[in-house]
Order: sequence, then structure tokens, then C-alpha cells
Amino acid sequence: MSTPNHVRLAKSAPPTAPSASPAPVAAPNMADKKALSVLWQTPERFFVAARTVFGGEIALDPATSADNPAKARRFFTPADDGLKTDWLPDAKQGVWLNPPFGKDMKLWLARVLLYSRQGCPVLALLPANRFEQGYIHEFLGEANTVLFVRKRVSFIDPATKTPAKGNIYPSMLVGMGVDPMLFKSAFDGFGLRLAVRSDGNQPG
Ligand SMILES: C[S@@+](CC[C@H](N)C(=O)[O-])C[C@H]1O[C@@H](n2cnc3c(N)ncnc32)[C@H](O)[C@@H]1O
Repeated sequence: MSTPNHVRLAKSAPPTAPSASPAPVAAPNMADKKALSVLWQTPERFFVAARTVFGGEIALDPATSADNPAKARRFFTPADDGLKTDWLPDAKQGVWLNPPFGKDMKLWLARVLLYSRQGCPVLALLPANRFEQGYIHEFLGEANTVLFVRKRVSFIDPATKTPAKGNIYPSMLVGMGVDPMLFKSAFDGFGLRLAVRSDGNQPG
């Protein structure tokens, strides 16, 4: 099992050389910014629409921080490890997932497939890239709706609660087992919505 991201961030910090005087604080470089983006939070408008799709509340956010920006009934932080903790029974009422971008993405999507196959409705906000990858084909192949978000999403910096600059990826919102009509009305105006076959869209 991989190390939770907050631990990985701490580990990836440059080693401090033993010294009597305090080291100068380095300006963040691009690699730091990319690492910090795994903590960016979803803008509230997505949560409002997601609650509508799920009938009033988000039952589970399995990848979040202690301040629980989704106001989910149950949530997991890196300390709980949402990649290991059982998502049931709450997942049956609806899962919101904006996973940390990076090498564990495959593991998060595999978890979503595991639970959506057990009848759990899921909304996943993901980077709209890696369309050549088999695991993305498998994932999208079981979606019942996909929305390409218009304009670059301004994610929220968890430290300042203000829009973070430097999002380098377009976003897509993927619905698994959600009511397509509710999705359509709740996310009206968010972007281009593609209705996928309700019996699945098996990749070739
Ligand atoms: C992109 S942020 C999204 C936060 C929130 N879900 C939202 O939609 O605003 C990803 C979150 O995943 C959390 N995270 C990273 N690894 C995790 C793990 N193994 N288990 C639970 N949460 C994790 C991070 O702390 C971070 O808050």
C-alpha cells in the first residue's frame, strides 16, 4: 500500500543540512507547486450540484482533509487512508471523489469501480487527460455520464480558502450509477455533458 500523500510530501522535502544557523527559506519551485496541488479543494459550486444529484447530501468523501470541504456525512483523511478503509455502508448513498492527482490515481479509480459495481453512485472530478491509458478506458467504460468542464477549474487552496493559481489540467466530472436527469439539471452550465450508454460502454 502506498504512503498517504501528506506523508509523502513531508518525505519529499529537501533534506536540511546540519547547521548552526537557520537555513534560508527557498522560494517554492514548480515541483513544490505540483505536489501542493494534490491538496487543492473543490470549488463549492460542484458540491452544491453534487448534493442535488445525491438527494441532499454527500454521504462519503473518501479522500479529503479534516476540514471536510464537501461537508460529507463521513469522510476519510490520509490518517484513515481511504484506499484501505471500507467505504460501505455510506457509499451506497453517494460518493464524492476528487482524488489526489498522481501515481495513486489508478488505485483510487480501481476503488471506485469496486464500489460502483456494488451499486454505489459516484461522482468523480478528475483531470481530463491520460485518455490513451487502459485504466482510464476501463473506468470511463463503466461511467453513465461524463462532463468536460468548461474553462479551467479554479481549485481552492486549503490554507487560504482562496482560488489557487496554476491548475495545469482540464477537468472532467464522471458519474457512475447516477440519475442522468438529475445530473443534467444539477450540472447544467458546467460544460459539455456526454450521455454514455446506460448499459455500459465497454472499451474495445
Ligand atoms: C485534491 S484534494 C480533494 C479534497 C476534497 N475531497 C475536495 O473535493 O475538495 C485530495 C485530498 O485527498 C487527501 N488524501 C490523500 N491521500 C489520501 C488517503 N490515502 N486517504 C484519504 N485521503 C487522502 C488529501 O489530504 C487531500 O485533501
